[in-house]
Amino acid sequence: MIKNRLIGPFTQLVTMDNLPLKGSVHDNQLEIIPNGGVVVCEGKIVKTGNFDELGIEFGDRNTVIDYIDNEMVAIPGMIDPHTHICWAGSRANDYSLRLAGKSYLEIALGGGGIGDTVEKTRLASTTELEASLTERAKNYLRNGVTTIEVKSGYCLNTEGELKLLEVIGKVNKKLAVDLIPTCLAAHIKPSDFHGNPSEYLKSIINELLPEIKRRNLSARTDIFIDSGAFTIAEAREYLNVAKAMGFDLVVHGDQFTTGGVALACELNARSVDHLDMTKEGDIQLLAASGVIPVVLPGSSLGLGNPFAPARKLLDAGCSLAIGSDWNPGSAPMGDLLLQTALLGIFEKMTMAESLAGITFRAAMALGLTDRGILKKGLLGDIAGFPVSDYREIIYHQGSLNPSVVWKRGEKGIF
Ligand code: NIG
Ligand code: FE
Repeated sequence: MIKNRLIGPFTQLVTMDNLPLKGSVHDNQLEIIPNGGVVVCEGKIVKTGNFDELGIEFGDRNTVIDYIDNEMVAIPGMIDPHTHICWAGSRANDYSLRLAGKSYLEIALGGGGIGDTVEKTRLASTTELEASLTERAKNYLRNGVTTIEVKSGYCLNTEGELKLLEVIGKVNKKLAVDLIPTCLAAHIKPSDFHGNPSEYLKSIINELLPEIKRRNLSARTDIFIDSGAFTIAEAREYLNVAKAMGFDLVVHGDQFTTGGVALACELNARSVDHLDMTKEGDIQLLAASGVIPVVLPGSSLGLGNPFAPARKLLDAGCSLAIGSDWNPGSAPMGDLLLQTALLGIFEKMTMAESLAGITFRAAMALGLTDRGILKKGLLGDIAGFPVSDYREIIYHQGSLNPSVVWKRGEKGIF
């Protein structure tokens, strides 16, 4: 017979339930259950509530108790909606050049940048890539991140991009953490492609996307719109075809130049990510749309650039998810909680908005309705922090990590 698992008592269970998908959120809107418990069965939450009452209700119903005897605050397992963690090599050289005053674009033109990682990643075996991706994903899971979006985009040819998506799929099967794969073959035009950017995008459409569909490797496609990458017109053409093929659309937009947000809204993309340069008019467009803005403080920290206007976005009525952008170039840190806490203090985001950005709002940026909130029917993904007040989580600016993580109701050691 299938067993229920009652997890608790949590000093505070922060459910993230009954909060709006869009706009500002005050801390007093958070649902906090003191002495809370979660009942999980077959990976999904059956009920949340007072631990003692749940104990009485489920005590005789074939239930095992996962008893917590220290103070602990539970939040939904965190969700990173934007990473590039399937890569080989290091870009420490780029970083030293940035410290010496060179810009991201200058470094790319000088032989560093994305092209450098493409060279190393093409040469890496699947075994090497699996090992490094596994390491990064495990590290994330230990830190309470239970769902991670992972982009391809460091091989930029049909064979190589398929290799990356296969590796992501394989590691996803092997680990408890969920990896959500996204095709980012439209990262930049690779230097060895004979043809213009538009022809490169057509080759992705003709060769790669149908194969991704056939092998069921990803349901999402992303494009980098910026100087040094693709123009608005090129992206519009590419995304329209990808959409007609059934892909969910994601845009790297407004990192250095504007226009990406407006295109994402025009095409009703799932999310538009970066937004460092986004201005008032586009903020209004976003607020009126169903597109989820994903801000990436890790790339601001990695490049030494200002943060995206998170406060303005929230005040205008936009949703707001937060991703790490973990990648070897612009965002080498890979610490979602630390970056969220820093964005919060600079942008004046409430703790509720910060937590929303890495839980249910991040889930919506991935189109996932089965996680990000601790409530009946959703996944039993829980991050437990060894404190008695949820505010400690953001207050410690990333130096406080969960002591226990549950993925689909199963307790890690992962
Ligand atoms: O999101 N902006 C484009 N792509 C990545 C950086 C990738 C890299 O530098 O390797 C980003 O910042
Ligand atoms: Fe990115």
